[in-house]
Amino acid sequence: MPKYVIGVSQCSEDSWRKQLHDEMEISAYFYDNVTLRYTCANDDYRCQMRQIDSLVDSGIDLLIASPQQLHSISPSIDRAFDKGIPVILFDRKTGSDKYSTFMGADNEFIGELLADYLVNRLPDGAVIVEVEGQKNSSPAVERKCGFDRVVKRHGGMKIISLPNDDWTEASGARAMEKFIKGYKGRIDCVFGGNDRIAMGAKKVLRKYNIDCSGILFAGIDALHCEGGGMQLVRDGELDVSVPYPTQGDALLELAVNMLTGKKYERENMMNTSLVTKENAKVLLMQSETFLMRAANIRKLSTKVEEFITMIEMQRMWLYTLLLLIVVVVTFVTYIIHAYRVKKDLSLRLLHEKEIVERQRDELEYQRDKLIEANAYSDGGDEHNKSEALSAQTDEKEKGEDSRFLVKFKEVLDARFSDSELCVEDLASEMNLSRVQLYRKVKSLTGISPVEYIKRARLSRAHSMLSDTSLTVSEIAYSIGFSSPGYFTKCYKEQYGVIPTNRRK
Ligand code: FRU
Repeated sequence: MPKYVIGVSQCSEDSWRKQLHDEMEISAYFYDNVTLRYTCANDDYRCQMRQIDSLVDSGIDLLIASPQQLHSISPSIDRAFDKGIPVILFDRKTGSDKYSTFMGADNEFIGELLADYLVNRLPDGAVIVEVEGQKNSSPAVERKCGFDRVVKRHGGMKIISLPNDDWTEASGARAMEKFIKGYKGRIDCVFGGNDRIAMGAKKVLRKYNIDCSGILFAGIDALHCEGGGMQLVRDGELDVSVPYPTQGDALLELAVNMLTGKKYERENMMNTSLVTKENAKVLLMQSETFLMRAANIRKLSTKVEEFITMIEMQRMWLYTLLLLIVVVVTFVTYIIHAYRVKKDLSLRLLHEKEIVERQRDELEYQRDKLIEANAYSDGGDEHNKSEALSAQTDEKEKGEDSRFLVKFKEVLDARFSDSELCVEDLASEMNLSRVQLYRKVKSLTGISPVEYIKRARLSRAHSMLSDTSLTVSEIAYSIGFSSPGYFTKCYKEQYGVIPTNRRK
């Protein structure tokens, strides 16, 4: 979804414009893709020109402007328009035709509406003091135009026009003060360019002790805020006013329609009507309901924002947790892998050590046999003699062999659980060299001492597996295996099943 930045250039700052901003902001909650960028020129047209130029240069997508004056600001707004930026003129116009749309109330009509109401309540020959709105601003010009036209058409009444510098109560007061000092005639009506101007003028008349009870006071804006025109009418401070619609929501909707290529009108006029003592109370009640709803929407939007922030936080935590899990899993997998590699390596080393020992014994045995064979071929007599001798001693040897085996088993039994036990140790305990032991064991059992020791251990384990409740590891250690894994491997080679299956 494209994002839009809307620049809002306001000519001044007051409660009417504040109401407009509030409405725009509330309605902006309904558009996810709209950002509002405000500027306010405090009734300084040069300042407003600079602000519009810099809004345009900052890359806004649309400009909403309430130009302070009819002509002086036109170049900046024309520039924006020429750059292809859609321009909405709001409430006030420029002297140029370079704008995309206009939204506001019909100020001539407002002037006429008020004049119609007043002339019907004023006596023939009534004197109306007209304290105008800001000089050269389009609402002031148009309001006066509509008002004067109707009064003149009615005939028999006099309008005294007082030009004015801006739209504030102070300027209304200044204009009236200047006038009243030199005026001694009657006043039947005061028509202010807006409610504030009318009130500024009234306060001056009171200051000069002029009885205001017979004078009709009229203004424009009829704001429903505290101290606004609507309350002033309800309380009898003003006799009549006309709401000058702010409708920030309709303004933003028009801007979004223009940005998103929807249909829109070039001239957008907002309706309005009179506020008098008769309807002011009801209108105020309605606006109170409206204000309450607006406040609720604000609260709701704050809650939604809080909720979104919370969800974003939770999402962040979730990602962090997932990352942590991935790190831990990777680490654990790595450790398991390293452990397996190490275990495989040590199993292979043990196995290879055993093979090497066996091969060494075999080689030494072969070597001795060769030496013997040489000795035999070198002296046949000697051999014959020994043959004879051996025949004589045959019986004797058989006895010695069985004693040897008994002793060998005893020595082995005593060192059974010693995983460091090696053939050299056994040989020295039997007072033999390693080769002698090898030859003796090989000739009597047909297997090497290493193999003999291993089988004896495995056979012991075999019985322990069925006779005891020791675990496989405990059995492996008790019979001199330093690694239960290696024990399982050897056991499987010997008995065709793994130790735990033997248990079952
Ligand atoms: C607010 C205001 C209103 C007046 C309007 C005219 O800035 O001064 O009081 O009706 O502007 O543009």
